[in-house]
Amino acid sequence: IPVEPFDLVIFGGTGDLARRKILPGLYRRLADGQMPPEARVIGAARSDMDDAAFRALVGEALEEFLPDNAKDPERIAEFLELLSYVRVDATGEDGWAALKEHIREGTVHAFYFSVGPSLFGPIAERLKSQGIADDKSRIVVEKPFGKDLQTARALNESLACHFDETQIYRIDHYLGKETVQNLMAVRFGNMLFEPLWNSRYVDHIQITVAETVGVGGRGEYYDRSGAMRDMVQNHLLQLLCLIAMEPPGRFEDESVRDEKLKVIRALKPVAPEDIVRGQYADGDEPGYKSAVNNPSSKTESFIALRLGIANWRWSGTPFYLRTGKRLKARASEIAVVFKDAPHSIFDGPPGQSNVLSIRLQPNEGMEMVVTIKEPGPGGMRLIQVPLDMSFADALGEQAEDIPDAYERLIMDVIRGNQTLFMRGDEVEAAWAWTDPVIEGWEDRGATPSPYEQGSTGPEEALMLLHQDGRRWREIKA
Ligand code: BG6
Repeated sequence: IPVEPFDLVIFGGTGDLARRKILPGLYRRLADGQMPPEARVIGAARSDMDDAAFRALVGEALEEFLPDNAKDPERIAEFLELLSYVRVDATGEDGWAALKEHIREGTVHAFYFSVGPSLFGPIAERLKSQGIADDKSRIVVEKPFGKDLQTARALNESLACHFDETQIYRIDHYLGKETVQNLMAVRFGNMLFEPLWNSRYVDHIQITVAETVGVGGRGEYYDRSGAMRDMVQNHLLQLLCLIAMEPPGRFEDESVRDEKLKVIRALKPVAPEDIVRGQYADGDEPGYKSAVNNPSSKTESFIALRLGIANWRWSGTPFYLRTGKRLKARASEIAVVFKDAPHSIFDGPPGQSNVLSIRLQPNEGMEMVVTIKEPGPGGMRLIQVPLDMSFADALGEQAEDIPDAYERLIMDVIRGNQTLFMRGDEVEAAWAWTDPVIEGWEDRGATPSPYEQGSTGPEEALMLLHQDGRRWREIKA
């Protein structure tokens, strides 16, 4: 779908997210020939700089954050030409008139709030009161979208005073990942899976998002959040929704989001024995407590959960989620583990269960584990083999062009397509489920268990499945 000419204003245009993700993503669209020549990108921030200085800063960011094979000097020069800069005081009066002057009539107007949530309200207010944004403008905001239900509600209200829900694009970058969208294609584009996609045939589902990185330079933010707020409340719950939701009537914004919302609302409360929290110990890198500079921190850098969904489709099927930092490998996957065949007609041990796994990263692809006969004359011995499809093998060159999550999502904003963005009620429902879980462990004064860097998390996480006679899939890159 072609993209209309647009003016995209990035508040916090000199910040980390803009330099790392947003601007390189926009450049890649241009390099792919997907950017209308009339597009303009306007950096807006507090620092005093002119267009040339902003272009130089973005040039350096592209140099730093783009892979070498994506750097084409001519295209980079073309991209930098689209950029300009306006100095704006988000909480004061300076710069707003200049910004208004800068924006052209007759284009799509999008405003990316790449700033802390405390500035969402003030910026939204000024965009409206200064007559810069109108009823057709779009605003883009990103997590942390609150730290609990109350703060999320307040944020939603501060935006809703000035913008309609159809103008608000809340990014969860996991929804921009190619394989995450593929999940819907696999489920709803094939006849093969959907009839089996329920508690009658599915034994359990595992969602793993394992990272090798630690908390890096984000210690202060992270120690206030922990893995539950940082990853589960948003990314993992979104994955769970896409796996568990009923087929929407159409692949369009309200239908998809209505179905996701129903899943979140059907999540059962979580008991203390369904939760394992961990914190990485000293190892190759300083341990979590030193990394966040808080020797008495009780924040988790790892969490595993056993969840249940109270509806007809999923009653009795556990969903096991885990995510953590400084683990063995960077590997994210969703695995649907099917039940055993009801009766074995062969001598010897029965075949094991079928597993459909969808790898989000790295090496995006799908694998289906099936039982077959071991070749040879030795009788009917069963073995398990993977039907493996890496997208790189299956799609060849096309797979090399898989767009980064941000590229896809920013272009969806310009196209006015909200399907892959979270609606306000969805975010609030996710917090309404998350809050009591966190309050529960805070009231109990629970401390996370230490785990070794480069491991799969604390022992207890393994036990969570062992108790149920199941085991986690291996975390491998
Ligand atoms: C972010 C979290 O939302 O997602 C980070 O704040 C995390 O802590 C990151 O590292 C993971 O994203 P990705 O795309 O690298 O899996």
